Amino acid sequence: MEPTIHYGLAGVYFAETEICGINGDRGELFYRGYDIRDLTEATYTEVVYLLWHGELPTQRQLDDFRAELVPHYPIPDKVLELLLCLPPGTDPMHMLQAAAAMLAAFDDNPDEIDPDNLRRIGLSLVVQFPNLVATFERLRRGEQPLEPKSELGLAGNFLYMLNGEVPTPAAERVLNTALLLHAEHGSNASTFVARSSASTLTDAYSAIAAAVGSLKGPLHGGANEAVMRALESIGTIDKVEQYVLDTLAKPKGRVMGFGHRVYKVLDPRGAILRDVAAELAESSSEAEYFHMSLEMERVMEREMTARGRQVKPNLDFFSASVYRMLGIPVDLYTPIFAVARVSGWMAHLFEQYADNHLVRPLVKYQGERGRPFVPIAKRG
Ligand code: ACO
Repeated sequence: MEPTIHYGLAGVYFAETEICGINGDRGELFYRGYDIRDLTEATYTEVVYLLWHGELPTQRQLDDFRAELVPHYPIPDKVLELLLCLPPGTDPMHMLQAAAAMLAAFDDNPDEIDPDNLRRIGLSLVVQFPNLVATFERLRRGEQPLEPKSELGLAGNFLYMLNGEVPTPAAERVLNTALLLHAEHGSNASTFVARSSASTLTDAYSAIAAAVGSLKGPLHGGANEAVMRALESIGTIDKVEQYVLDTLAKPKGRVMGFGHRVYKVLDPRGAILRDVAAELAESSSEAEYFHMSLEMERVMEREMTARGRQVKPNLDFFSASVYRMLGIPVDLYTPIFAVARVSGWMAHLFEQYADNHLVRPLVKYQGERGRPFVPIAKRG
């Protein structure tokens, strides 16, 4: 029987997982069985441990885990040199993808896919990603990179390495929440890319570099930057409604930060980030972006309901105004998504390598057949 085409592989299972469960109709998300709303009480580091080990750590296990991360903090010198070679204006996602691949060259054992070696690589990438993004940012601002302060934890150290100041507890808490919300989301586009790359039994660095490239797209992680660029171009709250109407009037017009392949109700992560943004807006000089976002949500709700569509804000929508109010440059929004998601990608690589099936779907050939070959000298 002729196989059915599932455009975009929508609605198709390609593997089993125990990492993350999503109920798109009810707006529910679970990591290892824990509701994401409850996990906002935890730190991002606890969540990484949970994703990888299936259990929340005890204090002792968390201390040991944090100690295991410490030797991985320094960026290899040659990788730092790579950052210095990049031309001004380099997209930080291109930097991150190149650096992820290059880290393999400075690893004595990049190819082995046994659980211990994979875990070692995971520990390294979980600290290298934030360090790379922060170091890249400082270098392009003409500032010296900073030595990490591992005692600050993953979120706190990232903000410290970016800004040169130990973050306030409030800023650290906000980034911590953003990181844990972005850490994992089942078979999203980039995780699928990571798993299908790994299914050829290529090394974990190659699979992660591929995933970074996939995350960059504006229909996926790149949407958070697209949201902020749209808000910047709109400028003031009174122009939001017309922007939405103009965008929807275009053929296939998409308002960035809305809609989701899986969620048909509000993405629970979006709801959490909206509350975080509301709290930040109370004391932020950039609160205007949050108020514009609320107006955009209101107009989209009205317009989509009128069209009989369920299109709600997704994770990327409110993360844009949260990062803005944290003072983070716009082109680092998607790299921060990668900083968090690398832990989820690694969790999936552990599963994929442990029970590997080559991912090799079909693409239905609809082109011509039986064309006679004409030598080049006779082609007119
Ligand atoms: N703006 C306007 N209408 C939308 C939007 C949107 N952002 N998203 C969906 N719709 C509507 C359209 O009416 C569309 O129907 P149409 O194709 O007849 O115009 C219908 O919903 C179905 O949308 P699809 O794009 O077919 O849904 P799909 O599941 O393929 O795509 C996606 C989901 C890519 C997220 C889409 O909603 C989109 O492009 N959103 C904007 C980009 C974005 O925010 N991406 C981030 C996703 S979350 C993440 O990666 C963390």
